[in-house]
Amino acid sequence: MSKSFAVIGDPIDHSLSPNIHSAAFRELNLDSSYIAYRIPKGELADGIEGLKKIKIDGFNITIPHKIEMMKYLDKIDESCSLIGAVNTVSNKDGVLKGYNTDMDGFLEPFKKKELNIKDAKVLLLGAGGAARAIVAGFAKEKAKRMTIANRTLEKAKELSGFAKTIGLDANAIKIEDVKNTAKDYDIIVNATSIGLKNEPSPISLEGINEKTIVYDIVYIPMNTDFLKKAKEKKAIVIYGYEMLLGQAVRAFKIWHGIEAPYNAMKKALLGGF
Ligand code: ATR
Repeated sequence: MSKSFAVIGDPIDHSLSPNIHSAAFRELNLDSSYIAYRIPKGELADGIEGLKKIKIDGFNITIPHKIEMMKYLDKIDESCSLIGAVNTVSNKDGVLKGYNTDMDGFLEPFKKKELNIKDAKVLLLGAGGAARAIVAGFAKEKAKRMTIANRTLEKAKELSGFAKTIGLDANAIKIEDVKNTAKDYDIIVNATSIGLKNEPSPISLEGINEKTIVYDIVYIPMNTDFLKKAKEKKAIVIYGYEMLLGQAVRAFKIWHGIEAPYNAMKKALLGGF
């Protein structure tokens, strides 16, 4: 039986999720389809109704709905209840179950490259849904402490409160107050949407070195200004597409119950740039 899937968010035109999942369907001869569906902020409830009406089998959620989507779930997987944000939903006869594959997807490149998180000092830019999954990942891997820098200080404070409840020492600052402190951190992550529209790096990376790990979760363009600046300093960079792939293979397994064809998905993803 043919199955249908989607990714919802806004902006969504740039999404490479359809490329990745469609490549997996082709590789495994599955009669399934995956589309990108734009749902602006404030229209999530109607959008979800629409997806239920067409009996969508599953969908991914991206910016700006990862936290709000929690309200519309009938069942919540453990991965999702801990984080309080959802990026993957399955639909079985109208019952929506939410999962979070962002945290493990985010951690995957550290594992693949054998990069250490334990005892690291982390600077996290952003305090939205993706940032929540990242905080949970750093807590799980026992980072030493984290500064959360965000445009809206209140949201950074809320997220640092969450970090503390799961055992990660954290403080909150406004993003413009990062100034020249990048050198004080071992790992710097951009979890804001800055870069998606080719904006300049959200912070100065002055003083970082070849041991600093700089990770951008923005994946379009592949080489954001943030990562370009990191490379100028010879830092270790992790691309947003690596997290995208990590979360996608896990979503695939949830929906189809079989291992995802990783290499075919990676090839399609890199071909999409
Ligand atoms: P996601 O679910 O992908 O994390 P989100 O919850 O909408 O998306 O979070 C987007 C993040 O990017 C937030 O940290 C947001 O900052 P605010 O909390 O102040 O809104 C950040 N962000 C988006 N546009 C930004 C901009 N122009 N300048 C600074 N931060 C920005």
